[in-house]
Parts: sequence; structure tokens; C-alpha cells
Amino acid sequence: MSPQNYLSELFALDGRVAVVTGGSSGIGKAIAGALARAGASVVIVARREAELVAAVDELTADGCRAAWVSADLGTRDGVRAAAEKAAAVYGEPDILVNNAGINLRPPMGEVDDEVWDRTMAVNLEAPHLLSQRFGPGMAARGFGRIIHVTSQQAHRAFVDSGAYGVSKGALESLARSQAEAWSPHGVTCNTLVPGFVLTPLNARLQSDTEKIGALAARTMIGRNGLPEDFAGAAVFLAGRGSAYVTGQSIFVDGGFSVH
Ligand SMILES: NC(=O)c1ccc[n+]([C@@H]2O[C@H](COP(=O)([O-])OP(=O)(O)OC[C@H]3O[C@@H](n4cnc5c(N)ncnc54)[C@H](OP(=O)(O)O)[C@@H]3O)[C@@H](O)[C@H]2O)c1
Repeated sequence: MSPQNYLSELFALDGRVAVVTGGSSGIGKAIAGALARAGASVVIVARREAELVAAVDELTADGCRAAWVSADLGTRDGVRAAAEKAAAVYGEPDILVNNAGINLRPPMGEVDDEVWDRTMAVNLEAPHLLSQRFGPGMAARGFGRIIHVTSQQAHRAFVDSGAYGVSKGALESLARSQAEAWSPHGVTCNTLVPGFVLTPLNARLQSDTEKIGALAARTMIGRNGLPEDFAGAAVFLAGRGSAYVTGQSIFVDGGFSVH
């Protein structure tokens, strides 16, 4: 067997269909790009159309199969409509990446019902509802990959973790519950745990060079994360080669969590 064929057997995603939420920006955009370049047909889901179009145009210009669905994952109806629209493009997905997330960051004492509900809706409930929609089908077909994107704050509290940390901790528990249910049927369910990654999500913080430098110094690699750092781990978790990896939280954080 040629090295090319060997690598393809482990990692290629030809013929697979992937849905990536938040695939128009930051980490999700890099993951969608990685899955598409590895051969998957990718549907990205987010709200803003201009960003969705730009992300898909970039991929199609690169010879990839990609499409977009505009939807608000902050409401149950929005999530359900997004799922149906996404499945209508290339068929039922083999790979679901629950990456869309928000971090509203008020101090704990100011976490009101609105902050709590919005955070839980986008960060926890949308991943649950999308998985409920697609997971059983993956199990019936005997192959599936569910990948959630969580946070250091699923494991430790800092910089006003508040409702955000709670939502991400619960998302890792959700991955384990799903792994228990669906792994016997070929569906692995894992989470990618970023460190501090330079994306629009934390644009305001990035103007504070001292804070950014201190965060980089907390890693072992010596720099903050970039969206493209997630490409390899995402392709691995989406492919055949990770068939025996399930229920896990995989830290892509430059050593942040172990420093
Ligand atoms: N950057 C970091 O340092 C870091 C660290 C730890 C964890 N994370 C996690 O990594 C994930 C991606 O973060 P990022 O930094 O790449 O963020 P980002 O650049 O702000 O991208 C967020 C994506 O989610 C979409 N989105 C947000 N709210 C949505 C909604 N209600 N409905 C549909 N789509 C929605 C956004 O598009 P629209 O706004 O157009 O909807 C965008 O595509 C998040 O789950 C985040 O919590 C990031």
C-alpha cells in the first residue's frame, strides 16, 4: 500500500458530509476548511450572511464542496430549521461539529436570566438539539462523528467564567452521555478544548498587549492559539483513524492546561 493510500484510509473524508456551526469565523472556519480540504462536503451554519458567503467562496475557490445556511442557533425553532436546511444540501451529515459559541462575560453577580438563557441556548442546547437530530441517524448508518468545542473554563474558572464556564462544562458531560449512547454504533463523540485563541470572539481583549502576552506565557509552546491549530485535530476526530477515541476532551491549547 502506498503511503498516500495508507494516509487516506486513516484520515480522508471523501464522501462524508459535515455540518459545522459557527463555520464562518475563527476556530469554526478553520475546522470547516480543514474538513472540506480533507474531502468532506461541508455545510456551515451561522447568522451573518456576508461572513457565510465569504467563507464558502474561499472554500469553493480552493476546489472544495461547501455551502451555507443562515440561522440563529439561539432559539429551538432556529436550531430545528437550521438542521433541516443543512441536511437538505448534501444529505444527512456523517460529521457534526458544534462549534458556535458566545461568551457574554458579566461578573457572576450580574448573570441575569437573559445572560444565562442566551448562553445555555447557543452553547449547550443547540449542540444537544443538533445531536438529537443527527446522532440517531448516524448510529443507524453505523458511522458518525460528533465534535463539540468547549473551553478551558469547562475545567477551571478565570476571567468571569460565569454562565459560559457552566455551559462548556455541561457540554463536555453531554459528549460523554452521547458517547455512552452511540459509540457502540460507530458514532464517536468528543470535545476539542481550546486555550486562548486569537479570533473575533476576544477581539477586545486582544488590544491589551500585556494581557495577551501573559496568556501566551501561560502556554508551554510560548504563543497564543491560532484557528489553524485546530485543523489536524478536527480531521483526526472526523476520520476513520479515531474510531476508538470517544467521550474524550482533547486539549488543543499549547500546554496551557498543564502549565
Ligand atoms: N477564541 C478563544 O480563545 C476560545 C477559547 C475557548 C473556547 N472557544 C470556543 O470556540 C468556539 C469558536 O469560537 P471563536 O473564537 O472561533 O468565535 P468567533 O470567531 O466569534 O466565531 C463564532 C461563530 O459562531 C457563530 N455564532 C455565534 N452565535 C450564533 C448564533 N446564535 N447562531 C448561529 N451562529 C452563531 C458566529 O457567526 P454569527 O455571529 O454570524 O452568527 C461565528 O461564526 C466557541 O464555542 C468558543 O466558546 C474559543
